[in-house]
Amino acid sequence: MNATSAEPSPATETAPPMPPPAHLRRLVLTGFMGAGKTTVGCLLAARLGWDFLDLDAYIESRTGLTVPSIFATHGEPRFRQLESQALASALGRSRIVLALGGGAPEVLTNRLLLEQTPGTATIFLDAPFPTLFDRCMMQALNPASGSAEHMLPNALPGQARPLLADPAAAETRFLARQPIYRRLARHTIDTASLTTEETVDALLARLNSPTPARRR
Ligand code: S3P
Repeated sequence: MNATSAEPSPATETAPPMPPPAHLRRLVLTGFMGAGKTTVGCLLAARLGWDFLDLDAYIESRTGLTVPSIFATHGEPRFRQLESQALASALGRSRIVLALGGGAPEVLTNRLLLEQTPGTATIFLDAPFPTLFDRCMMQALNPASGSAEHMLPNALPGQARPLLADPAAAETRFLARQPIYRRLARHTIDTASLTTEETVDALLARLNSPTPARRR
């Protein structure tokens, strides 16, 4: 399976032991850069036999431009417009795991789309900022170590993810986004000490948990 293919790719693995509740047709992963949205989403989709779509890769396929080049040439506001359009299109699909870009929930239109599309559950993959930053650094040094295949080979974090070019500003964004991620998400998974497989297991268990989802 191609982790970041722009079009949904059929998952290759066998049916999951624990499918999500029947009314759910879309699982959306959110969280800051480095949260593992793409890696976890890819494995989750394979376990469910669903399609996987990475929103950044989808934007790239729709525009023919890389995310860094959209930022560099057209600026962040234009990127956010393209991101909202791609999200609206992606949410038209069913049986899909969708990995958002870290900034998508900051935009009110995107939050409304996510909250008002029936059968959609958003899950927040959480971790402390230093953990996330280190993961991004490692991915930038060795893109094959993560599944962010849209990143530039041998790119520095700021080149592959423009908003990490200034670490202090990135941490400020991280802090500002935390309550937004938490409010939007039906479930929050602390991934700091979990492997990808453990995160998927925790996520499926949480979706099937009889306890009411926590809304913050
Ligand atoms: C961004 C996160 C990136 C990408 C863009 C902006 C952000 O996606 O959408 O560089 O605002 O946090 P990832 O979270 O997949 O790295």
